[in-house]
Amino acid sequence: MVKRKTCVFISGQGSNLKNLITHSRDNSFPIKISLIISNNKNANGIKYAKYYKIPYKYINSKLKNSEREILLLLKTYNITFICLAGYMKIISNKIVNGFKKKIINIHPSLLPKFKGLNTFERVLKSNEKKTGCTVHYVNNKLDDGSMIIKKIFYLKSKDNEITLKQKTQKLEHRAYPEAIIKIFRYR
Ligand code: GRF
Repeated sequence: MVKRKTCVFISGQGSNLKNLITHSRDNSFPIKISLIISNNKNANGIKYAKYYKIPYKYINSKLKNSEREILLLLKTYNITFICLAGYMKIISNKIVNGFKKKIINIHPSLLPKFKGLNTFERVLKSNEKKTGCTVHYVNNKLDDGSMIIKKIFYLKSKDNEITLKQKTQKLEHRAYPEAIIKIFRYR
């Protein structure tokens, strides 16, 4: 099987990155993580890049030429698929348009509900009965592209932001690899 050369974009913890790396080491998993881009030089996720010896690059996304730098890196590493995993920056139109249906994101809510930040706080405030996570294609709007996979769980009265995050991330770690398998199953 020819694996898709994939770049994972991160900004923080990197638990989804670590999970994707683990899956990608399986021969039958459709992607190989060839590059990791972080816009936070202290992101915890960078330690997984180092540990697994995967090329990584810190890009200061506040700088004017950062988009050009990213595009060049994607080209240099022959990247054909992108996974956003906690990347706290909106991807530029140029990158989105160049990777149509080849760039995906994971979001910690049942989209289209609760797009954007502070998801768990807003889920609790609005007394939702259920929540979960969504893997979706990235388009030019925030947390908006078509859905690939959703996973749901029901809230308990004792739930708080910490428990919601734990439960959601547990589901995310199943959802992201499943979504990738689903995308490439019939290609
Ligand atoms: C995840 O909850 C994801 O849904 C959101 O950012 C978080 C990243 O977590 N987009 P991690 O860095 O993968 O641990």
